[in-house]
Amino acid sequence: KRIAVFASGNGSNFQAIVTAVKREELNASITLLVSDKPGAYVIDRAMKEEIPTFVFAAKNYQKKAEYEREILKHLKANEIDLIVLAGYMRLIGDTLLQAFAGKIINIHPSLLPAFPGKDAIGQALEAEVSQTGITIHYVDAGMDTGPIIAQEAITLSEKETRESIQEKIQALEHQLYPKVIQHLLHKTEVFHQ
Ligand code: GRF
Repeated sequence: KRIAVFASGNGSNFQAIVTAVKREELNASITLLVSDKPGAYVIDRAMKEEIPTFVFAAKNYQKKAEYEREILKHLKANEIDLIVLAGYMRLIGDTLLQAFAGKIINIHPSLLPAFPGKDAIGQALEAEVSQTGITIHYVDAGMDTGPIIAQEAITLSEKETRESIQEKIQALEHQLYPKVIQHLLHKTEVFHQ
């Protein structure tokens, strides 16, 4: 099975997925990185891993449908089976949703439906909740609204900072995302969080 990762930033989740493939914990190939942020660190990571990259700047297109058609060409040329969003900071539009119905997933750093959208960790801190976590879900037209596939919680102490929460969340993400992808692609084993 062939995966495209979409990412806009650091790409630590991209790296975790690539590492899982190398360790043969994930039986798939990462055949494409799509990024909307020229200069993002995730692009350096893909180059190092020799993974082909399609980078675009949305401002060079008049509409979402235009750049998504461009993305679609790359997805088709690479015979992609699954789109994995990993810190991709744009809503997916109809062009991709229709072409890849049920085949686009996202990871979000909160227990959805709590704290959707930007800065989920900041939102959790602000709300002084005793638990937060991560969610992996199918992508629909909304912001972090699609059907939930898996969630994992962390307990917050009173001393927690943005950095300490982020560290815990990312460690969980790096473990859970490759496992869930493996499960979705192969559905061979009972899935345990
Ligand atoms: C992750 O925390 C993910 O949940 C969110 O964006 C962040 C991406 O981090 N959607 P990275 O670029 O994979 O390090």
